[in-house]
Amino acid sequence: MTTATPTQAPASAAVSQRIEIRPFNARVGAEVLGLDLNQPLCADDFARIHRAHLDHHVLVFRDQRITPDQHIAFSRRFGPLQIHVLHQFQLPGYPEVLIVSNIVEDGKPIGLGDAGHFWHSDLSYKEKPSLGSLLHAQELPAEGGDTLFANMHLAWDTLPAHLRSAVAGRTAEHTYLARYAELQKRSPWRPDLSAGQIAQVKPVVHPIVRMHPETGRKALFVSEHFTTRIIGLPEDESRHLLEEIFAHSVRPEHLYRHVWSEHDLVFWDNRSLMHLAAGTPDHLRRKLYRTTIEGDVPF
Ligand code: SIN
Repeated sequence: MTTATPTQAPASAAVSQRIEIRPFNARVGAEVLGLDLNQPLCADDFARIHRAHLDHHVLVFRDQRITPDQHIAFSRRFGPLQIHVLHQFQLPGYPEVLIVSNIVEDGKPIGLGDAGHFWHSDLSYKEKPSLGSLLHAQELPAEGGDTLFANMHLAWDTLPAHLRSAVAGRTAEHTYLARYAELQKRSPWRPDLSAGQIAQVKPVVHPIVRMHPETGRKALFVSEHFTTRIIGLPEDESRHLLEEIFAHSVRPEHLYRHVWSEHDLVFWDNRSLMHLAAGTPDHLRRKLYRTTIEGDVPF
């Protein structure tokens, strides 16, 4: 197993912030209270956050009034950042920040409004999918806009025996373009991709059951958004199996539903979870900033 090599705390005199980690009443997720990311983070606090992230898979940091620079700096403590292929929706001056938003200004979408429309793990279509993502609330709707998380360790642990044996040792293809055309037909957020963008998202193959590189726990690693087929199986059989796995993965007992509060920063582990944006009424504005941290090649 590899271990994350989080960046050391800056040399400044960082003192402990009396953090409290409060698990949610669900099979996934915890709230981090008493932390202010405007203040320097000492090595002990960082280590507690890192441990809690591995234990709970999604952490909610309340009331973080931080700038994009601070959001990026905190994300980088966990590893190098990835740049999303839809550069149209980068925060100006911050290529590491993807704007997730349904807002249209002067007839142009300011962000990716249908990010998370289907269940997925971020950037699973890359050779090195994302370790984790940090989503920071900027503007929230008065209703809707929740994000759901599915615990893929539990999904594997409880997978019926016939599905376990059908997928054991198998791999599946992940493709960014799998549902792009379908999304493009119904939304203003999917521009035509240039040849350069298409070249960045060539299909990749990953194990269907991956081992978490830091905890050694097994997790299912297929999603309705990006996984197209199981390698080596006839198309019908592959589709049927994937549908059964997708349905099992998102059973209610595997889920945490995040209802956003102002200035929440939510940090999830893409090696352990899938997520879904539950949807926002069209007439209400929603804007968040997202960074993604590069992970390992799944094994
Ligand atoms: C995402 O899939 O990263 C966006 C999730 C959300 O908008 O709630």
